[in-house]
Amino acid sequence: MDELCSHIMDIAANSVTAKAQNILVSITRDSMNSLLMLQIKDDGVGMDEETAYKVQDPFFSTKIGKKVGLGIPLLKGTAETTGGSFRLSSRIGAGTEIYVTFNSRHPDLPPLGNIKDTILVLVVGNPETDFVFRLSSDGNNFVLDTKEVKALLDGVPINHPEVINFLTKYLDENMIFFIH
Ligand SMILES: Nc1ncnc2c1ncn2[C@@H]1O[C@H](COP(=O)(O)OP(=O)(O)OP(=O)(O)O)[C@@H](O)[C@H]1O
Ligand SMILES: [Mg+2]
Repeated sequence: MDELCSHIMDIAANSVTAKAQNILVSITRDSMNSLLMLQIKDDGVGMDEETAYKVQDPFFSTKIGKKVGLGIPLLKGTAETTGGSFRLSSRIGAGTEIYVTFNSRHPDLPPLGNIKDTILVLVVGNPETDFVFRLSSDGNNFVLDTKEVKALLDGVPINHPEVINFLTKYLDENMIFFIH
């Protein structure tokens, strides 16, 4: 996987599969300390302790017909390659949180990729799920909370073409600081 956004898609897709109603994606850049932090938290079905341990191994998946699950081990591998850290905590019935740090100056850190399109695909592709995206880059902050957007839409679906246009423009204008 050559972009961090692909990891974000994959981990958030796991949350959707786990029937999460709310998903938080938080990306924090702290250049002074050479840190890039990624947090993905959901309120899905969660995992018991043994499963939460096993999923960090590539040879585990609960997907039917799939013997090898790669989403989590790949992210863990990328984090550790850069000298960063990986933490997964989960509880049955409560949800799952993945917290990863990367050394932002490590030569093997993949590029972030297109975070704007990643947000759009997740929001528009999962209209029933609520997302909070929290981006922070050296003191500049941006938050998109789909609950707030939906409240303004007054019943118009969040994947309506005009809403997608609006969101695209909104993200273009407000996330500038986060696109390197
Ligand atoms: N957020 C989550 N909530 C509950 N269970 C999860 C969550 N994320 C992962 N899992 C469990 O961990 C397993 C492994 O996840 P992983 O993303 O590594 O592989 P996968 O989703 O099975 O396959 P792949 O991502 O390669 O298509 C999943 O099959 C699922 O059982
Ligand atoms: Mg997966």
